[in-house]
Amino acid sequence: MRSGHYEVAVIGGGAAGLMCAMVAAGRGRRVLVLERANRVGKKILMSGGGRCNFTNTGTGPENYISANPHFCKSALARYTPWHFLEMVERHRIAWHEKELGQLFCDESSKLIVRMLLDECAKVGVRIETECDISAVAVGDDGRFRIDSRLGRTTADRLVVASGGLSIPSMGASGFGYELARQFGHGVLPTRAGLVPLTLSGKHLERLDGLSGVSLPVEASAGGAAFRNAMLVTHRGLSGPAILQVSSYWQPGDGLRLDLLPGQDALGLLQRWQRERPDAELKTLLSEALPRRFAQRLCEHWLPSRPMKQYTSPQLREMAATLGAWPIVASGTEGYRTAEVTLGGVDTDGVSSSTFESRLLPGLHFIGEVLDVTGWLGGYNFQWAWASGHAAGQAV
Ligand code: FDA
Repeated sequence: MRSGHYEVAVIGGGAAGLMCAMVAAGRGRRVLVLERANRVGKKILMSGGGRCNFTNTGTGPENYISANPHFCKSALARYTPWHFLEMVERHRIAWHEKELGQLFCDESSKLIVRMLLDECAKVGVRIETECDISAVAVGDDGRFRIDSRLGRTTADRLVVASGGLSIPSMGASGFGYELARQFGHGVLPTRAGLVPLTLSGKHLERLDGLSGVSLPVEASAGGAAFRNAMLVTHRGLSGPAILQVSSYWQPGDGLRLDLLPGQDALGLLQRWQRERPDAELKTLLSEALPRRFAQRLCEHWLPSRPMKQYTSPQLREMAATLGAWPIVASGTEGYRTAEVTLGGVDTDGVSSSTFESRLLPGLHFIGEVLDVTGWLGGYNFQWAWASGHAAGQAV
């Protein structure tokens, strides 16, 4: 075998690429990983606030957004969160479960990267960093030709694991999409997901100075609803509920924010009127919501008076405001801060079991570059592991 020839070349040393490489090399394949950044797994390192929310034990196809909701099923069923956890435990990485089945490292996401690198080293994967690829072509012999600072590398199979567009400063590029187009694949429009929403004009002004205030809400848009914390930022709204719903929201769409999730707002107001008729709304709301937020609501959205002064229609109107706070998001913070990219390589052209292109044998797409995007909570890594594992077994 020539030194520049590999059975498998993987473009992108992120979560999916490293998983695919270790599995393929574990099956005896000669594997090269080409990574553009100066180190592999940068997103793993920064994930989960440095503790990497590496999977979610509740993972199911319903936790993913894709034009084809069935596409993710096969790989997720074949490589489950328990499989990944088995590897984590084998490497003696301490972990804990947060809410909703989210598993995090106790110490540092560095341990996950080290685990992946150890597994790759064990089976002889070659990893090259700072390796920008200038061109990819298919030769007459059917082999892929990859030009980079290494010169020309040839490979029988090429796995595109170059991720999405979020956090360009970490190495993200549209390379995978360009490559897909080059070989005739469709690419569905991309946009930032799991991203803070921005406010403008009076909506932003009215929240001035509240940055850092957090409260539980139910956020709904585009047919999806998430009950979790919302955080006011100096540009708009963030926190898990907002990040989740951002993947379903597009500028111009309605965004519904229930400030008293799971509570009967009208019943609460009526009870306050009955039991504490002389108390002001502002005081009572401050008991149910963060005080500064409640006071601001009363300055701009809910005129505060002693409870006994409200008529029944007024109470109903106020309950409606609390159940659907009329705030209008103007946009998102974009790829600069987004955790994921929605859209991507159209799954129609890709096998859901081997992740091989239906158009060009030997070409595979895995991970976030595909039009499969998970919710917040470890689902995106689980998709990277599962798709990487499936392709690693097929190449
Ligand atoms: P990933 O982005 O991991 O890897 C792609 C790799 O390809 C990168 O290393 C990139 O540099 C490289 N590359 C790009 N273009 C290239 C080129 N032209 N040539 C060579 N290499 C190239 N998910 C989750 O489940 N739990 C979590 O806790 C978090 N937390 C989180 C925090 C933050 C801040 C972000 C931005 C994202 C998360 N995510 C997450 C999402 C998760 O990081 C993401 O979905 C996976 O890393 C996707 O794995 P991939 O391997 O597909 O892409």
